[in-house]
Amino acid sequence: MRAEKSPFWHIGVLGGSGLAAGIELEDAQEIEVASPFGKPSGPVTTGRIGNVRFTFLARHGAGHAIPPSEINYRANIDVLKRCGVTDVVSLSAIGSLREDMAPGHMVMVDQFIDRTSQRTNSFFGTGLVAHVSMADPTCARLREALGEAASLAGGHVHTTGTYVCIEGPQFSSRAESRMYQAWGADVIGMTAMPEARLAREAELPYATLGMVTDYDCWREEEEGVEVSHVLEVMHKNAEIARKTVRELARGLPERREPVGIDTALEYALITAPDARD
Ligand code: ADE
Repeated sequence: MRAEKSPFWHIGVLGGSGLAAGIELEDAQEIEVASPFGKPSGPVTTGRIGNVRFTFLARHGAGHAIPPSEINYRANIDVLKRCGVTDVVSLSAIGSLREDMAPGHMVMVDQFIDRTSQRTNSFFGTGLVAHVSMADPTCARLREALGEAASLAGGHVHTTGTYVCIEGPQFSSRAESRMYQAWGADVIGMTAMPEARLAREAELPYATLGMVTDYDCWREEEEGVEVSHVLEVMHKNAEIARKTVRELARGLPERREPVGIDTALEYALITAPDARD
């Protein structure tokens, strides 16, 4: 039996390592939470802003030491679930595949194309089979609240965008970059998958705020992506990211009404009850 979700907001934030430290949280605590899925990226920092509880987890670990392919996405989502989060916000650096999504802009991702190949992408498997819907992989309610908060924080926000998630750790070739454009992708990154899939399986509404750091490499006249440029834009945007979290806390209604994603597993488990391990 699943536990009822709290009628109050508790937002899990997967993001950069410096994020939580720059936000004044009431009753802040750092806690190590164990997971049967292995080691999460690090301890969580939990605390309140007004009526909203936030629990932060730096997905690349302290000092950005965990590469995208080695993040234990299952443990991270499981730890947030164990902390009682109701919804998950993901903040991540992305490259742009469109002229009008310029470095410094923010994109409220609503769709994904998954090109990852080395990551465990489900909590389910032999013994317990489930197929959740990923037709709409992000939560419209959370996405809208987050986009509004990012605008109020001073961000230049695009309200929709398709994110292609590559395995990395290398950036793409020019041919790949142009192929992703032809597929209809707007932005590119390395971390949202399988995070979004696992959040759905954990019945956690999920939204990604992508911060554009570069134009990837589809523009012939420009050099390829350089980490120094990515970091420079991320540092410039760090205060907007922190303000976005504060604005989100201010903008959410006092009580959290249930959404369909809260019960995503209701019709997704296919293994007969008497055959479940
Ligand atoms: N993260 C930031 N910029 C990126 C890019 N161009 N490709 C993949 N991940 C990124």
